[in-house]
Amino acid sequence: MDFTKFIQATAGIHGILGVAWLGLSLHVVMFLKPPVSVVVRKIQAILAILVTFAGLVLWHYLHPGVFGIREAWLAVGVVCAIAAAGLQHGMAKANERRIRALGPEPGEVAMPLLKKVRLADRLAALLLAVALIAMLGSGLLR
Ligand code: HEM
Repeated sequence: MDFTKFIQATAGIHGILGVAWLGLSLHVVMFLKPPVSVVVRKIQAILAILVTFAGLVLWHYLHPGVFGIREAWLAVGVVCAIAAAGLQHGMAKANERRIRALGPEPGEVAMPLLKKVRLADRLAALLLAVALIAMLGSGLLR
């Protein structure tokens, strides 16, 4: 595979997986009741890792040693994406673990924990939407 094709493939995979991550996170917020299945959290984690890795490869080859307006837009997206991953795999997952530890019928005690999970998921989805806008904004300035 020549270099151009490698970059095109990486960019395609990055964009598609990024949108899949955002889509799954919106699905969690809109249609799933916390605590969300461990499988969903695993898929979110895998998407976050792959998107970040592909994004860093793209940055390394397409933006070496420069920091202009395009990189500023990208940096906003990167910070939002990393914060979203932190919320999903820190705040949301940790509180879901606490809810599960309360047993099958957690009752009222779980309410504050559920609120924290919902807040983390909503903020993460919002940040991923901002990340997508920032990435597309950088692309428009090409
Ligand atoms: C840490 C995470 C991320 C890093 C390091 C990163 C980095 C990058 C880089 C370097 C590019 C290439 C810009 C160019 O063509 O010169 C890019 C493009 C893109 N990224 Fe990301 N990104 C990240 C997260 C995301 C997320 C979460 C999404 C979606 C929600 C996303 C969606 C896109 C899209 C759609 C493009 C193509 C933009 C265009 O060319 O119009 N990225 N990203």
